[in-house]
Amino acid sequence: MSVEDLRFLTEEAESSLKSLHTPEALEAFRVAYLGRKGKVTLLFEKLKALPPEERKSFGQELNLFKNKIEEGLKAKLESVDAPSKTGEENFDPTLPGLRPSRGAIHPITQTIREISGIFERLGFEVADGPEMETEFYNFTALNIPPDHPSRDGFATFYVKSGTDKDSYLLRSQTSTVQIRVMQKRKPPLRMISPGRVYRPDQVDASHSFMFHQIEGLMVDEETTFSELKGILQFAFRQLFGPDTKTRFRPHFFPFTEPSAEFDVSCFLCQAKGCSVCSGKGWLELGGAGSVDPAVFEQVGYDPKRIQGFAFGLGVERIAMLRHGIPDIRLFFEGDLRFLRQF
Ligand code: FA5
Repeated sequence: MSVEDLRFLTEEAESSLKSLHTPEALEAFRVAYLGRKGKVTLLFEKLKALPPEERKSFGQELNLFKNKIEEGLKAKLESVDAPSKTGEENFDPTLPGLRPSRGAIHPITQTIREISGIFERLGFEVADGPEMETEFYNFTALNIPPDHPSRDGFATFYVKSGTDKDSYLLRSQTSTVQIRVMQKRKPPLRMISPGRVYRPDQVDASHSFMFHQIEGLMVDEETTFSELKGILQFAFRQLFGPDTKTRFRPHFFPFTEPSAEFDVSCFLCQAKGCSVCSGKGWLELGGAGSVDPAVFEQVGYDPKRIQGFAFGLGVERIAMLRHGIPDIRLFFEGDLRFLRQF
């Protein structure tokens, strides 16, 4: 090994040091050059065997080599320990970028969009309303009297007590949006309003304390109950298939008269009875009815001139039926193994 070879080795070591950026790589470099069997150590051993006339110049060059490696390594270790603020020094533009994992639309949002699309094709527009409401919009304007059980503290989440118009609660139904839209608009109108509602219900496989409803309202000089039935039947056939049957059962809601609850025939067993429909053959999806004249009076419409119907659908129910989901809690637990399927 000549002095020339040693210079060449120095250059080689310096350039390889430049490309190292991690503490592990620098440690491997240290061992390769300065370790017990490292290049520098072995060369010092060789030095001893050289004839005295060569020893001096080679020894000087070898010391230079050793110093350069030690200093270079020290500087590099410091820069790795305290990387420059911009990180530019360590930035390797040739590395592949980090791919963000791809998200998907939540099954409840998918169901809302699909139902909204069906009603939009029937001329209904989509309206929005606040989730925190006053007692006026959630109850009073909907003809729900002060002593009605749904106004109880165990049936509604109250946020702030006060008078009718300055108390706050989390809305327990999307029917609130009927009132807000009618206050702003003159008939005729057709609207739907999807959104979250809240009730302190006992949570189980089919009940949640937060769920989604889609409200529907059609108001005109003449509307009929059979139009309501026809529209809902059309929507359910679109959602569940052409053989779906719809059934209306008499019910009571303070803001509609007459009122009904509606069921669809179980899509799984064709109304014969199975575990999804608890053997009944029918599945309850929501409530509906002709708008009560008292509600029209609240918003300044003339009930002698104006008629209307309204309905409210439970969205989770519909999504569960469409996808065969046995437990409502799956929608809200955020478990990606469940959500990735949609
Ligand atoms: C209502 O909320 C009425 N506002 C519906 C209505 C609108 C009637 C317009 C007339 C005119 P109800 O409380 O039955 O009705 O709720 C409607 C649907 O919401 C139910 O059929 C069910 O599908 C769903 N639902 C009710 N409570 C829960 C709950 N805790 N968890 C999940 N879904 C629920």
